[in-house]
Amino acid sequence: MRLATLLLFTSSITAEINPDCAPGGNFDLSPWELQLPIGSKGDPETISSASLQGCSGFENSDYFFTESGDSALVMKVPGSPSSAGCVTTTNSLHCRTELREVDPSTGDTTSWSPKAATNSLTVKLNVTEADNSEHGTVIGQIHIDDSVSSKPVCELYYNSDGDISVGVEQTRTGGNEAFTSLGNVPVGTVFTYEMEYAGGTLKIAINGESHTLDTFELDAPDSYFKVGNYNQGSSPSDIQFLSISVEH
Ligand SMILES: *[C@@H]1O[C@H](CO)[C@@H](O)[C@H](O)[C@H]1NC(C)=O
Repeated sequence: MRLATLLLFTSSITAEINPDCAPGGNFDLSPWELQLPIGSKGDPETISSASLQGCSGFENSDYFFTESGDSALVMKVPGSPSSAGCVTTTNSLHCRTELREVDPSTGDTTSWSPKAATNSLTVKLNVTEADNSEHGTVIGQIHIDDSVSSKPVCELYYNSDGDISVGVEQTRTGGNEAFTSLGNVPVGTVFTYEMEYAGGTLKIAINGESHTLDTFELDAPDSYFKVGNYNQGSSPSDIQFLSISVEH
């Protein structure tokens, strides 16, 4: 929580050193709610921002918990509905343990204009297992406001070879992501990504190396951030998060 005290309008998650706390005791989870790969078919369990907060906040030893060694926030997915019996939303075929941005003062879902001067998500993570799909598990997203589209602006993927790529939707109707390779970081290695959609421009940096991306016909729809483990394959994926911060 160190950054949160330094930067106005900034929420951050920074790993501290209490492995006995739920993730909400070590990380400021106020700007997030949690989507899980369990619950009813088409209606996975969602944990509110309020329920995530504090040392005795929500945890689940299979999907969302504090790593015993370094107190990282672990998000795991066991595979697909057919391989693992996990549960998806109606708009997706894939299971997720994923944080979705909310308004930190109300806990309600929120979105922002990509034309504003500052919208960034900065994440330090260690993918210890990626799923077996071509592009791999989605480790971060910018998503179009739900009243406009059920599609993302972009999804950041990490596969089992450590290849990192981004898929940018070309229209708000979606289903036609244009892929760009952003680099390679071997599985089990700590790295940082930053997603920025500000002044109408989409940029993603991997370990500080920035790429500016075409947004085709999207025309800067209101959007929100997601961060976590959105499995695109049929084998398990496991990610340790060391810090997560949002700035607007
Ligand atoms: C990253 O994950 C790998 C594989 O689990 C592990 O060996 C390594 O210690 C981790 N690094 C950090 C800094 O947590």
